[in-house]
Amino acid sequence: MNRRTFIKGAIALTATAWLNPNNLIDAAEKIFWWQKKGVYQIYPKSFLDTNGSGTGDLRGIIRKLDYIKSLDVGAIWLTPVYPSPMVDNGYDIADYTDIDPRFGTLADFDELVAEAKARNIKIVMDLVFNHSSDRHPWFLESKSSRDNPKADWYIWRDEPTNWRSIFGGSAWQWCEERQQFYLHTFATAQPDLNWENPDVRRALFDAANFWLNRGVGGFRIDAIVYIKKPKIFVDGPADADGTCSVHNMTANTDGILDFLHEFKREVFDGRDIFTVGEANSVKPEDLPDWVGDHGVFDMLFEFSHVNIMFPHGEVWHRAELFKLSDFKRALTDSQLATRDSWYPIYFENHDKPRSVNNFFPHGTDKILAAKALAMILFTLRGTPFIYQGEELGFANVAFDSIDDYDDISSRGQYDLAKADGLGDKEALRFVQKFSRDNARTPMQWDTSRNAGFTSGEPWLPVHEDFATCNADSEARDPDSVLNFYRRLSKFRNSSDVLIRGDYHELYPNSEELFIFTRTLGDKKILTAVNFTTHEVKLPAKIFDGAKKLFGNYPDEKNFLRPTEAVILILD
Ligand code: NOJ
Repeated sequence: MNRRTFIKGAIALTATAWLNPNNLIDAAEKIFWWQKKGVYQIYPKSFLDTNGSGTGDLRGIIRKLDYIKSLDVGAIWLTPVYPSPMVDNGYDIADYTDIDPRFGTLADFDELVAEAKARNIKIVMDLVFNHSSDRHPWFLESKSSRDNPKADWYIWRDEPTNWRSIFGGSAWQWCEERQQFYLHTFATAQPDLNWENPDVRRALFDAANFWLNRGVGGFRIDAIVYIKKPKIFVDGPADADGTCSVHNMTANTDGILDFLHEFKREVFDGRDIFTVGEANSVKPEDLPDWVGDHGVFDMLFEFSHVNIMFPHGEVWHRAELFKLSDFKRALTDSQLATRDSWYPIYFENHDKPRSVNNFFPHGTDKILAAKALAMILFTLRGTPFIYQGEELGFANVAFDSIDDYDDISSRGQYDLAKADGLGDKEALRFVQKFSRDNARTPMQWDTSRNAGFTSGEPWLPVHEDFATCNADSEARDPDSVLNFYRRLSKFRNSSDVLIRGDYHELYPNSEELFIFTRTLGDKKILTAVNFTTHEVKLPAKIFDGAKKLFGNYPDEKNFLRPTEAVILILD
């Protein structure tokens, strides 16, 4: 039987999992360790700098392990820490089996794994296998001639197509040495690897096994939907500028699952780990091919609920207004599609704006919003993923000029907007709203200089709200977002109903309220959130006979106040 058979029905686990009693919540229905607790995502560059370089490092993470443990999570996902020219902040890897000196050494990494393990936390690595850096020795060799041993480790062509890369500009880059173009789905410095070549696949699987042998607890797998290219390379349906997004031509193409099943066999099978693939464009109805008994990963980050503003592709200036019913439908579809498997619940990551700005109307109280979203995060069915700072209620930044933005995609989107006729101000407005830098400003630890992030010059400015929004101050305030997260996380991790219960949505057409229940036997928990900035009447007497477990207002009314959210027990 398959290690990804989950909590319903008879289940066989891998030998390792059986031997470890901590993997199981009870003997009758088996639950893996990564289903029992949440995951904390760290963007190491912005977490904590211990040597005054202005960028965070592994020793900074070691120093804050007790802080992370206080959130009762079972794993830490590190975005890439491998040697990299940092064109895309580490997602351009120049060596898959080492640590970038900016972040530390392999010895620091081993210490991090050991110190985390001592706190019952596992370290999860980010595998970036669709592309490498253009400085990776594999690429240097591949580009040197058309007949070197690695000549077809990347994707080379004599003629480009009209494909536009995800960061803007042509997806093909001319190479003088080979007198050919190479494909890059993302930046020109991120050439796509050729997965058709078995030697490439072997080298990548070996790299993943290198980290498993160092004791990591799993992988988040980057941009995995792009690894299989179509059989023939042709121009796609052109936008006004004559280009066509590479995403529309190469995402999730036929045959990708064969590669992924091989990946699973060669790397994941038989290991007590979890895998979560990043899979923009895998639809809820396709999820059974990707996760669960017949799938390849334990969980999948699909983008439906975070991309509802972009129904026509992720072009920022073509964003549409946030519609609550779309957001709820996306979440409900995913919850139902993974009824027999598992789901990663997330509202933020290093690529998305801060959730208090992204999902609530202008003028919403940020603290109420942060707590309201946390109540959804911890009561939907699946593993909650907390992105650094989300547990403190971090908000977006707004830099004054495009030159202040570090994020490569912000600059690409700005150019795209200007090419479409938007003025400087208007183009900047979209960057401020959707820039990935919103999520990348340094962690705010205390009220000291640079929020305690660095004694040097931070690589990205610290948010100006750090005097009130910081870990130290919030730790001392029982009503803070941080303490709310701590209590909710512990509650979720000890609640059978929240871990195993069935999901059911109420009033799906409401544009004001998100209400759902989780049911296990005769126990029922209900979450209700008012997404508006005004009072909303409840459609039924849901408070009758119910006991409030959590809420972002101290008392109760028989209606929901602006951004009010409650978790009720109904049994
Ligand atoms: C997805 C990652 O989350 C993002 O940060 C990165 O830029 C692209 N993949 C390319 O690796």
